[in-house]
Amino acid sequence: MRNPSSSSSLSFVPAKDGRKPHVSSQAAAAVATPLSEFGREMQAGLARSPRSISPKFFYDAAGSQLFDRICELPEYYPTRTELRILGECAAEIAGQIGPNAEIVEFGAGSLTKVRLLLDALETPKRYLPIDISGEHLEAAAERLKADYPDLAIQPIAADYTMPLVLPAPMAGSGRRVGFFPGSTIGNFEPDEALAFLQLAARMLRGGGLLIGVDLVKDPARLHAAYNDAQGVTAEFNLNLLRRANAELDAGFDLDGFSHAAFYNAPHRRIEMHLVSRRAQSVCLNGQEFAFEEGETIHTEYSHKFTVEGLRALAVRAGFRAGAVWTDPERLFSVHWLAA
Ligand code: AVI
Repeated sequence: MRNPSSSSSLSFVPAKDGRKPHVSSQAAAAVATPLSEFGREMQAGLARSPRSISPKFFYDAAGSQLFDRICELPEYYPTRTELRILGECAAEIAGQIGPNAEIVEFGAGSLTKVRLLLDALETPKRYLPIDISGEHLEAAAERLKADYPDLAIQPIAADYTMPLVLPAPMAGSGRRVGFFPGSTIGNFEPDEALAFLQLAARMLRGGGLLIGVDLVKDPARLHAAYNDAQGVTAEFNLNLLRRANAELDAGFDLDGFSHAAFYNAPHRRIEMHLVSRRAQSVCLNGQEFAFEEGETIHTEYSHKFTVEGLRALAVRAGFRAGAVWTDPERLFSVHWLAA
């Protein structure tokens, strides 16, 4: 486990806009090989300024397990608060959804939250969890099947932000309802969040979307949630580089980078970065990328919303904003959006 206090002591210097990171293409000509999607995006992300990579690449098997650990951390309030809301409001939520529903979960992960929903629903017909991490999804679906033998479970290993054709509804099924918990919507850029909601509204027409959304709050509370004392979030962030080394034969020195996360109040978002602890260069697919001390790779945004802001966004995307459930401290919200 990394020591979070030592990793957060460096100053933080994102690359200035307009300045191209130093890339040597000499070696590229010599040893470049065809790359996976992760490889292509990593290479493009290191070549752009400021450097960045999509947070969707956090979730290999090790990253998914680290994320499960984050959800258990004392500082990371979103998961337990959302579970509490889902548990306490399950009957009302089930009433909105109706009987024989087909549940489509976007970015399903470990399939724990959906259990609260399935337990409250009247004879749910089928569950279609979609997740990019196929291995993790299959294992979680097997565990769920053992506990819900009467439910049709059809895991789909896919990137749910890309156009996707879902299986036709089963005979006798009720509403098709999307389930998007965990405030994953916050990890999108604002235009991507709108595009996702538009796609979901089309996909779920006649049904609806149940979405969990983290709320704007005291920055100190937000800061603690993304800078936990055990350093699990730091490990999660750094796992991206470990993954690049394992899958792409990249040459990242993991001790040469540290985790940084802070709340950007004007943009109402947590930003996560990997900060180069010293001047160094890293080789990826025959290309060399030079880092200055303090230069960063941006790895994640986690936008926070007001209840009104989320409802307005949903209406723009084509939903009718329905009931909203929150906890007494108004840390987190769960919204019913009719499609
Ligand atoms: C998955 N997503 C909603 C998490 C979040 O809070 O933005 C990912 C995460 N990143 C760091 N901690 C948790």
